[in-house]
Amino acid sequence: MADLPSVSRRTLFGGALAAGALAAIPASATAAEEAAISPRRPGQRSMIGVPFERHQTVRIGMIGLGNRGMSMIGGWSAVPGAAVTAVCDIRAERAKAAADKLAAAGKPRPAEYGGSAEAYKKMLARDDIDLVYIATPWEFHYPQGKAALLAGKHVGVELPIATELDQLWDLVDTSEQTRKHLFLAENCSYGRNELAILKMAHEGVFGEVTNGHGGYLHDLRELLFSDTYYTDAWRRKWHTRSTASFYPMHGLAPIAACMDVNRGDRFATLRATATEPKGLADYRKRHMPPGHPSWKETYINGDLVTCLIETEQGRIIRAEHDVSSPRPYSRINSLAGSRGIVEDYPARIYVEPDHGGHAWKDFGPYRERHDHWLWKTLKDDPNLGGHGGMDYVLQWRIVQQMRAGLVPDIDVYDSAAWCSPVPLSVVSLARGGKPVAVPDFTRGGWTKARPGLDSQPSEMPG
Ligand SMILES: NC(=O)c1ccc[n+]([C@@H]2O[C@H](COP(=O)([O-])OP(=O)(O)OC[C@H]3O[C@@H](n4cnc5c(N)ncnc54)[C@H](O)[C@@H]3O)[C@@H](O)[C@H]2O)c1
Repeated sequence: MADLPSVSRRTLFGGALAAGALAAIPASATAAEEAAISPRRPGQRSMIGVPFERHQTVRIGMIGLGNRGMSMIGGWSAVPGAAVTAVCDIRAERAKAAADKLAAAGKPRPAEYGGSAEAYKKMLARDDIDLVYIATPWEFHYPQGKAALLAGKHVGVELPIATELDQLWDLVDTSEQTRKHLFLAENCSYGRNELAILKMAHEGVFGEVTNGHGGYLHDLRELLFSDTYYTDAWRRKWHTRSTASFYPMHGLAPIAACMDVNRGDRFATLRATATEPKGLADYRKRHMPPGHPSWKETYINGDLVTCLIETEQGRIIRAEHDVSSPRPYSRINSLAGSRGIVEDYPARIYVEPDHGGHAWKDFGPYRERHDHWLWKTLKDDPNLGGHGGMDYVLQWRIVQQMRAGLVPDIDVYDSAAWCSPVPLSVVSLARGGKPVAVPDFTRGGWTKARPGLDSQPSEMPG
């Protein structure tokens, strides 16, 4: 099986970088960092506002058929006007299982690719793929996403689209050069609560939005130590390689949408803190037998990594990541402003003039009143499945946008900004928590208001 690719010196830090190298990193966000943004190359143009070309049928090629890929394949083949034409997994038997699953469901059998880490390149050479969906371990997202763009496909990538800053830039540049969209397949942005909160934010229910708090707080210890769940324990291995906020996007992206990030505001600086890494070693001590491969590992990622992001308009976002501590699941989903606050898990609200007395009220009636058109359209769809239905809403919307020739709700700039805490948390932590500049991936395009996830109702083409 393929080894984990090496992680560059830019991103590795702390235990992995020598103290001398750390001393070379400047102490705070600097004008030099901002100025480091290179100009577009000749022929390269912004992808802001660029619609998909219309597709009668959206033909999908999937790379990675593990937990996520197999849970998404049913939805991809069920959306009206979508068809999975090819599937690829480094493990050929998984590609076959995926093809069998579609055939058993009465769908056309997709072409299968597998057996090597490079098999996806053969799949990308096909001319019957419009959209590539990537659900492989994090370290493969960047090379596979870039290769798919260069092969002339649109690309939906699981979280994160890339793990290093230069990779994020390269995906932005490659999308601008190839004129193909690459976007984070950020399903939680299509959650029913998240979309209702977005509409409420835009309708002024919270007054002037000043701050948000979100993240990914998911006790994954049992799965991380499972010998079968994550292929080759790839996700646990990340905890041996880097101290970073690996995966805050599920809670961060919906808040960024409420704050119109890249649509009038933008992430300006980020500072990070991390607790000591205790959770995984403690779990191993209590649950893993002597001789288990995990005993050779040293976990260096802090259990709770917190990023404080300040936006250009002075808003503050607290984005958290913790997958190694015992706790109930939460993405927090908190948004606050001059007239009130909403918070999830459980969903509750406190807004003026409706509420007072320091008492939370049920969010349910507000969600009904501010339900997003996508949920009004799809809430009774029999295909709604994984993650409370938001996976299928995401898939339906992507296909609809591609069939109708719409501008994508989530573009490469949103995706790069939302994923930038992964490498930037590394840099900030290496600087003792000092702020680092968040690059403007839009190269100035962020100042203009434009639609995003708070979209206008439209129909699926017939
Ligand atoms: N959005 C969500 O809610 C959500 C949920 C779960 C997982 N994910 C993401 O999905 C991705 C996959 O996670 P998972 O839990 O399915 O992991 P997994 O280990 O179950 O699956 C990964 C699959 O990728 C395959 N693979 C590895 N290298 C490959 C290569 N070079 N070419 C082709 N296939 C290759 C593996 O064989 C495996 O089948 C991750 O990025 C994860 O963060 C997202």
